Amino acid sequence: MIIANWKCNGSKKMIHDWVKEFKDTYISSNEFYLGIAPSYIHVEHLADLLNFNDLDIKYGVQNIDLSNGARTGAISLDMVHDMECSFSIIGHSEMRNIYGETNENISGKLDLIDKSLDIIFCIGESAEENFNDKTKEVLKNQLMVLNDRYLTKNFTIAYEPVWAIGTGRTPTPEQINEIHNFIKDVVQSSSSSNTVPKVLYGGSVNENNAQSFFNENFVDGALIGGASLNGSSFAKIVNVYNGID
Ligand code: PGA
Repeated sequence: MIIANWKCNGSKKMIHDWVKEFKDTYISSNEFYLGIAPSYIHVEHLADLLNFNDLDIKYGVQNIDLSNGARTGAISLDMVHDMECSFSIIGHSEMRNIYGETNENISGKLDLIDKSLDIIFCIGESAEENFNDKTKEVLKNQLMVLNDRYLTKNFTIAYEPVWAIGTGRTPTPEQINEIHNFIKDVVQSSSSSNTVPKVLYGGSVNENNAQSFFNENFVDGALIGGASLNGSSFAKIVNVYNGID
């Protein structure tokens, strides 16, 4: 599974160029889940272009709000369904740090979505927590929202160390593998479904380092920010994942 997170980037022109660049580089495969989360306002434009170019790429959103109604600036689950999105990212560290997203809110959003969308649930420790050897403790705390939850195939976790996002720094592939194994163990023992979830890695993944992460046993794909903004770079990463580079 590979998901592009465009964050607060993009324009109609950028998307047009992106699709062209992606198509020129991408070696088609229908074997795994490929998705893009553009800004809300560009969802329909992207969907039209993907469809027009016959690209089998799903599209989704970077967040949803807890309900509709008097919540200026928000986007509800109903609206996301209305635009026929396939997935939502939930709990991204930028939502937690800039907009004060809490475990409680995240839990409400997971309840709300249930099985109606695929979910990419993000967790990750800060630089300071990492430095103080608190990574597993922090992740365990973030994973508490999954306690006694019945998880199904629509649920995926993205491990994104905050200090690796957009910085060009990453843990080693071995460290990532160990943490993914830990996450899978925690979720298997705490969810009521005893699910071993898919775990993506996110944080400064690019076309040069992607292979080293994908080689690890417990890495089930990637969530990609910066390097996904260029259609050709993103296609190269997808080709690497696909074993065709
Ligand atoms: P990055 O972002 O690839 O630019 O580090 C990843 C993310 O925040 O999802």
